[in-house]
Amino acid sequence: MEVRRTVGCFRMSSNNSFFDEKRTWSRIKDELLKAYLAPYLAKVSRTRRPIIVADCFAGKGRFDNGEPGSPLIISEAIAHQLNDPEAPEIKGVFIEKKYFKDLKTNLPAASWCYPLEGDYEERMDYFVKEYQPRDQNLFLYVDPYGIKSVLFSQFEAIQKKKGFKTVELLLNLNTFGFLREACRLLKKRPDFETESPAVYEQDVNSPDRLDEIAGGSYWRDIIDKYYSRQIKMAAAEEEFITQYCERLREVFHYVVNIPIKTMIGNIPKYRIVFGTNHDDGLLLMADNMNKRWAAFREEARDKQSPLFECDFPDPSKQANWHVEKKIVSLIDTEIELKELLVKLVQEFGINFSTSEFKHYLKQMENDQIEVRRFPATTQTGKPSTSWDHTKTGFSIKISRRAQWQQPLL
Ligand SMILES: C[S@@+](CC[C@H](N)C(=O)[O-])C[C@H]1O[C@@H](n2cnc3c(N)ncnc32)[C@H](O)[C@@H]1O
Repeated sequence: MEVRRTVGCFRMSSNNSFFDEKRTWSRIKDELLKAYLAPYLAKVSRTRRPIIVADCFAGKGRFDNGEPGSPLIISEAIAHQLNDPEAPEIKGVFIEKKYFKDLKTNLPAASWCYPLEGDYEERMDYFVKEYQPRDQNLFLYVDPYGIKSVLFSQFEAIQKKKGFKTVELLLNLNTFGFLREACRLLKKRPDFETESPAVYEQDVNSPDRLDEIAGGSYWRDIIDKYYSRQIKMAAAEEEFITQYCERLREVFHYVVNIPIKTMIGNIPKYRIVFGTNHDDGLLLMADNMNKRWAAFREEARDKQSPLFECDFPDPSKQANWHVEKKIVSLIDTEIELKELLVKLVQEFGINFSTSEFKHYLKQMENDQIEVRRFPATTQTGKPSTSWDHTKTGFSIKISRRAQWQQPLL
């Protein structure tokens, strides 16, 4: 039975019920993971280097109603990739403290599957300090209930550790849980944040620990602004994730995130944050997040769901988002399409898909911009009109048209 209680205007659920059935937000996480892993494994396999996919808070493997959890999603993706005779060594590592027995039962008994019993923080510590990497590609999936274990410094250390070929991170960050805990610890004032320490966060017990989780003390100013009524909680959450991602950009070249909102108060319940050093990873995940968000929003609207809304900024409604102007400003002399797309995602986050950016580019072709393709013709000798930035041995270059002048007004 799920235990729910209401604190101020926020309904909270006990973790004991987490595995009863998948909630909407778990579904989105899973879809993001599943949709990313297949192309990730296929692409990274081409490096010929081993791959480790680490599910750091693995859970039971399967929900009590039979639905697969992240361990089964991951192992299915690995098994699929291993069907390719050219695939390198791929390992799935699954860390779980409480439900290890269930996890072991639910995981396939495969030689590449490594269920590990124990505490995430200790395992990470060992991994950071003792483990000798062998040029592997590492994908970290970090999906805790709350925030108490996700130390920023561990992400930093693992990324800086010498010996991995690549490191990517997909993190479920409970931003609101963080701020609620921050209010409790910093202000000790009896309003909704302090009435109930979050069900699953009672042992985040010092502001210093929150500094370690956040990767800095910037969150203290945000809480001050909230308490002095300069900003509301929704703005505080937005500011917190912006600053968190800024810090994470010192660790990974590229960081994007998707908010998962509950209807009440319009404050995201979680943020799913992705960090990578690779153009392809960024574009793949940004498209993936854009698609999930659009589908989720549609679904919420169709059902007029009383439970969820995901009213993230809608590109069509943002009059101040001048995509065309931004495109022009990003082209210095000439730029490779993929590089331009990366820059655009850095500007606009997941609000547009790469196809939408290409749609803008098509409209601008021969007006503001010129497009050159190499090779310029297809195999049948026709002029190439392709916009496929992923094709190997094919390049699309965009330049500003010499004749085109920025309108003066
Ligand atoms: C949100 S659930 C993970 C759900 C899972 N990713 C899925 O999709 O099925 C978090 C899991 O982390 C486990 N856990 C909590 N604290 C942990 C810790 N310090 N070390 C390892 N596992 C922990 C919990 O027992 C729980 O199974």
